[in-house]
Amino acid sequence: MTNAVYHDTVLFADRVSRVFQMPAGPVVAVRDLTLTITQGEHAAIRGPSGCGKSTLLHMLGCVDTPTSGRLLFDGHDVTTLGDRARSLLRLRQIGFVFQRFFLLPMLTAAENVELPQAEAGVPKAERARRTFELLDYVGLAPRAGHRPSQLSGGEMQRVAIARALANRPRLLLADEPTGELDQTTGEQVAALLDRVNADGTALVIVTHDPALAGRARRILTMRDGRIEHEATQ
Ligand SMILES: Nc1ncnc2c1ncn2[C@@H]1O[C@H](COP(=O)(O)OP(=O)(O)OP(=O)(O)O)[C@@H](O)[C@H]1O
Ligand SMILES: [Mg+2]
Repeated sequence: MTNAVYHDTVLFADRVSRVFQMPAGPVVAVRDLTLTITQGEHAAIRGPSGCGKSTLLHMLGCVDTPTSGRLLFDGHDVTTLGDRARSLLRLRQIGFVFQRFFLLPMLTAAENVELPQAEAGVPKAERARRTFELLDYVGLAPRAGHRPSQLSGGEMQRVAIARALANRPRLLLADEPTGELDQTTGEQVAALLDRVNADGTALVIVTHDPALAGRARRILTMRDGRIEHEATQ
């Protein structure tokens, strides 16, 4: 019989390290770190500034490659994939949400949500349907035609979440998603992320915000490139 644990595993980081070679000497941002992310899980990563949280998230999101160790997505070793295969994996399986939203300023909310679908080859009619469904899901159907400059911070982040979900990823990664938002708006975004997770997407959030981290079932605390402590609640 196939191992059930294996089937549940979305992502397995196997002793990954990330060393940046700098003129003043190597910087070890993540060291020899092992981590399993399972289907539908809700995890938060905390830790002091500079401890390697964003670097780890970028590797989990296949935006950056470990300098040593392996990263398995769905059992496939991502570190040996070519650029195109890795981009496709990222496009189809992983959503990313950033502190500063990174919406494209010249595109409307709807066009921002549509773009990753176009890149993934989704036909136009299906894209339009899915875009409306997603903007409705994040409560922003009435803002579909607004450009980012015509949206509030919380609205921009909700569009960014809709965009991250465009191709129905199995894993959503968020780096300080409430870092730019006031408390009330941050709570709305946090509640939306909870709902995304409840609807079945694995969620890993890097945050300094104790209230946001407190919503996760699993809390990982990093220090100096390693996971120093792990708790489940
Ligand atoms: N591209 C890079 N080149 C060189 N060094 C880097 C690079 N990115 C990060 N670092 C270094 O790696 C370490 C970890 O950085 P990282 O951004 O992962 O920290 P962080 O935990 O996300 O911090 P913060 O909470 O401030 O966002 C830091 O010492 C940083 O200076
Ligand atoms: Mg960071």
